[in-house]
Amino acid sequence: MTLPAPYAAVAAATKGFLPPDEGAALHAAAADAGPGLWLEIGTYCGKSTVHLGAAARAAGAHLVTLDHHRGSEENQPGWEWHDPSLVDPYTGRLETLPSLRHALWDAGLDEVVSVLVGTTQQVAGWWTSQLALLFLDGNHTEQVAQHDYAAFASHVRPGGVLAVHDVFPDPADGGQPPWHVVQRAVRDGFDQVSVTGSLRVLRRSAARPAEARLEPGSPGARLLLAISGHPGLSAAELRHLTGLDVAAVGRGLLDAGLVTSSRFARGDCWVRTGSGARAVAALRG
Ligand SMILES: C[S@@+](CC[C@H](N)C(=O)[O-])C[C@H]1O[C@@H](n2cnc3c(N)ncnc32)[C@H](O)[C@@H]1O
Repeated sequence: MTLPAPYAAVAAATKGFLPPDEGAALHAAAADAGPGLWLEIGTYCGKSTVHLGAAARAAGAHLVTLDHHRGSEENQPGWEWHDPSLVDPYTGRLETLPSLRHALWDAGLDEVVSVLVGTTQQVAGWWTSQLALLFLDGNHTEQVAQHDYAAFASHVRPGGVLAVHDVFPDPADGGQPPWHVVQRAVRDGFDQVSVTGSLRVLRRSAARPAEARLEPGSPGARLLLAISGHPGLSAAELRHLTGLDVAAVGRGLLDAGLVTSSRFARGDCWVRTGSGARAVAALRG
């Protein structure tokens, strides 16, 4: 799904750090997130906000965008990404809020987007709302990137979308904290959905259905133990071994994030190293 023309023109004219291919991928991922509350961390002048806001309007969602609007370290005078035209003569500090307000006005998105001015540390203390989408693009230091993930990703509902920007697995390409956040999210049970440039889209596993409940002796537990004990078996072989409806029970394990989807779909399933391995260890006592 591409960004409709009027929004695309505003996004292109808005200052920011989102290349067109990543903007298109963010818009497409958001379009899949469904209605509910969406949260963007790291607004700057609103380039990504326009992409998300356009998708929010179409999905019947509401977008909150959070930034203190004084810029990150790299936006300060003397740093690589400093833009002197964004300095407020009154304070002498960087000030991106007016640019955001103009972008939302031009895009006609004022009713779809709530602008939240503050630090993520301030907002984390009182935020309680469940999220259908979370976009992390704020401060990229290890401490704050980890803080933002810890504070807000836990609010992403089952099946909800987590997008992370500026992800560089190779240190030669860029800073590592957003990559560390993605690795942590995968350990926490988020599935990776897409990679576009430095944008990663993940999805929280859907709520665990009844078949996957892991009481000892339950179908889910029996299948998980069979998979971990016989890696590489096909679904048909697992069905023969366990006598279970492997497709139905396996679907539950997939949704619970305990087996990997691509391999399961091919018929040879592996227990996920994180939560799946811990579940197996617990079942084995
Ligand atoms: C990389 S820019 C966001 C770029 C934007 N998403 C775009 O599409 O161009 C990061 C933003 O995070 C904001 N920021 C940095 N630390 C923050 C914090 N602790 N709380 C809130 N915002 C913060 C900065 O002010 C900056 O505008």
